[in-house]
Amino acid sequence: MVTSRAMLLRIVAQQFRQPSGLLGRVWGRMMNWGNAESIRESIAELNVGRSHRSLEVGFGGGLGLDLLLAAAAEGLVVGAELSDVMLAQAERRFAGDIARGRLRLVHTAIEFLPFVDGSFDRLLTVNTVYFWGDLSRGLGECHRVLAPRGRLVLALRDPESLGRIPFTRHGFTLHEPAALAHEVERAGFGPVRIVAHGSGRSTRHCVVADRE
Ligand SMILES: C[S@@+](CC[C@H](N)C(=O)[O-])C[C@H]1O[C@@H](n2cnc3c(N)ncnc32)[C@H](O)[C@@H]1O
Repeated sequence: MVTSRAMLLRIVAQQFRQPSGLLGRVWGRMMNWGNAESIRESIAELNVGRSHRSLEVGFGGGLGLDLLLAAAAEGLVVGAELSDVMLAQAERRFAGDIARGRLRLVHTAIEFLPFVDGSFDRLLTVNTVYFWGDLSRGLGECHRVLAPRGRLVLALRDPESLGRIPFTRHGFTLHEPAALAHEVERAGFGPVRIVAHGSGRSTRHCVVADRE
């Protein structure tokens, strides 16, 4: 019984880390629903202009891609993901935007972004930082691919609340927003703001930083 509970928690944690298989196919929709507030708040902080080039890393179910496409009607959106299942779903769902050249999807991790320096005006990543293999390399890549005056919004759940959820003990790295903001500054960004939304167990944080 103990073993099967631990197994279940590991399976749930693994789906959040990198949705896969049959379960992964419903996970994206579930994350779109469960994380809708965080995604919308983050995009509001991103302040996307009509012709901006935006990158979302770890787009999961794709709600963020949808909102970025709507915000930058004359711009370009690029989505980067590690999960084959999330990529395949997005390829189907956004086939029209891909065909029109408005959206590109790329299979990659945040630590290895295959873009030249200064490729983007806006970079969004929501609920992914718990899974990065190398925080400073990931932040360095965010800094490198942003153009001068480009903006990064990195959104995460409150570490104290997340820490009370049993599956987060299986491979999640929880971050204090202030410590993360410090790392963002160390990566070369200008002054960093932390914006909190919600309260109690549903507290969400956006770490907002501009490239100088
Ligand atoms: C918890 S989900 C969040 C999805 C979506 N952003 C949301 O908030 O609903 C994390 C997503 O990030 C992707 N991911 C995990 N680690 C990553 C990494 N190092 N680089 C890029 N994507 C990553 C996973 O495949 C997964 O789809």
